[in-house]
Amino acid sequence: MTVLVSGTPDYTMGFSEEYLQALRRFSAESHAGHLLPYLRPGLRVLDFGCGPGAISAGLATAIAPGELHGVDVEESQVALARAVARAGKHANAIFHVADVTDLPFEDGFFDAAHGHSILTHVPDTHAALAEVKRVLKPGGILSCREMICESSFTYPDFGVIRNSWDMFEDLLVADDGHPQMGKEIKGHLVQAEFENIRVSASFSAYSTPEDIAFIYGLANQWFLSPEITEAAIKYGASTEELCNDIRASYDKWKRHPGAFCAIAYGEAIADKPLY
Ligand SMILES: C[S@@+](CC[C@H](N)C(=O)[O-])C[C@H]1O[C@@H](n2cnc3c(N)ncnc32)[C@H](O)[C@@H]1O
Repeated sequence: MTVLVSGTPDYTMGFSEEYLQALRRFSAESHAGHLLPYLRPGLRVLDFGCGPGAISAGLATAIAPGELHGVDVEESQVALARAVARAGKHANAIFHVADVTDLPFEDGFFDAAHGHSILTHVPDTHAALAEVKRVLKPGGILSCREMICESSFTYPDFGVIRNSWDMFEDLLVADDGHPQMGKEIKGHLVQAEFENIRVSASFSAYSTPEDIAFIYGLANQWFLSPEITEAAIKYGASTEELCNDIRASYDKWKRHPGAFCAIAYGEAIADKPLY
């Protein structure tokens, strides 16, 4: 069964303002730190599944005057990314509407390719990696960073909030996504015949008063919105009663002095073979 929370087939997160605010908090430093040491001025880099372009802007800075090409299947995200690039005067950032499994670039076009939180959502991991590999130069670098849902947490949990993570995983699976992609990525890169695979893991942590208010708003206005809870109930990933319990637990959580949330990611850098 497929649950479409967004209008884009297989993309669970949707494009609501609340969720986009989460992506706008990202930066190349905070969400592509494992890649930055490999970048230098003049490289040509692909950001596949670039979304609203917050990470792309930092990548463009790191490689200027080299070209940063951002690609997203959703036109609205490409428009937002173009606006971010204009506002930040990133003249070397170019954005395209395209699917990662069918990229509009010739073979061997890029020195490096980066994807953040995209392989989680693309049903056919092998097709996506094969296509990104095609557009990389021999010896080019692939970078990715993907969520590990089961290692992410909201504390304290009140014996309830873990259910919201489980519900999120169920929705991703229902959309043919991969909630633990951050753990699985090394195996996929081996299968796709990348070399010199270097994996690491990290958390994005939320604990300041501003972070707690932000996560609470995201939970209430995005994750517990009628659009998502109705889909979860319809799919059997939750019930009305459980959604109400989760809502009440988040109300307690935001007032708790020890409130802490962390999202776990697996990261990888790998090389396309020279021959
Ligand atoms: C979770 S967002 C991440 C955006 C950005 N990389 C970031 O981390 O801020 C995933 C993005 O991937 C895009 N996407 C999903 N499936 C795609 C596909 N098959 N090809 C290209 N982009 C895709 C979505 O439209 C969305 O903008």
